[in-house]
Amino acid sequence: MENAESYASLRARRGPNALLVQAVGLLAVRNGRALDIGAGPLNDSLFLLRAGLSVEAVDSDPHTLSLASELNDPRLTVVPADIRDVRITPNAFSLVVAIHVLPFLPRADLLRTLPAIIDGLSEGGILCCTFLGPDDSWAQHRPRMTFLSRSEVSGLLSGLQPIVFAERKFQGVNAKGEPKRWHVFRGILRK
Ligand SMILES: C[S@@+](CC[C@H](N)C(=O)[O-])C[C@H]1O[C@@H](n2cnc3c(N)ncnc32)[C@H](O)[C@@H]1O
Repeated sequence: MENAESYASLRARRGPNALLVQAVGLLAVRNGRALDIGAGPLNDSLFLLRAGLSVEAVDSDPHTLSLASELNDPRLTVVPADIRDVRITPNAFSLVVAIHVLPFLPRADLLRTLPAIIDGLSEGGILCCTFLGPDDSWAQHRPRMTFLSRSEVSGLLSGLQPIVFAERKFQGVNAKGEPKRWHVFRGILRK
């Protein structure tokens, strides 16, 4: 996921994810800090900035950094790194966004990284996240990615209070517009 064909380059300058729009609507105060993990094209980060939050956007794709320089907003900090190597400050963020990124971690890394992500939430903070399930078509041929059952996802998020927790299976397309079967869990949870 890098350079000319990276997700960030394919999907730049689009609107925010609908799940994130819903999550921001739940925030009592909108001038806190948000962490956008796997921020890619920065569409969600831009929405957060416009909503009044300051944003730390983590992505290992160099394209994210060049998109950030176009935005030129002092409230946006891009961390050009792998989330597995980032020390997430505990209790720091009123909102943590991890949309379409955690499944790209190998299972052991996901299991190790998710608790640190949750620790990063302040009390009452909101986690907005997605996971992929075993009926996703990538599960057949992407052994380094992680596909979780409903009970596994519930278990990993059990310390949080669910506000939205939805499972969907549908025929859709990938970032290049090619047909793909999706099996997605979408969650908004409060600490
Ligand atoms: C499918 S894209 C989703 C981007 C964005 N969250 C969105 O929904 O538009 C996944 C993004 O996660 C980034 N990514 C994948 N693995 C990562 C990792 N281990 N650490 C940081 N970023 C990662 C990729 O570079 C890519 O930009």
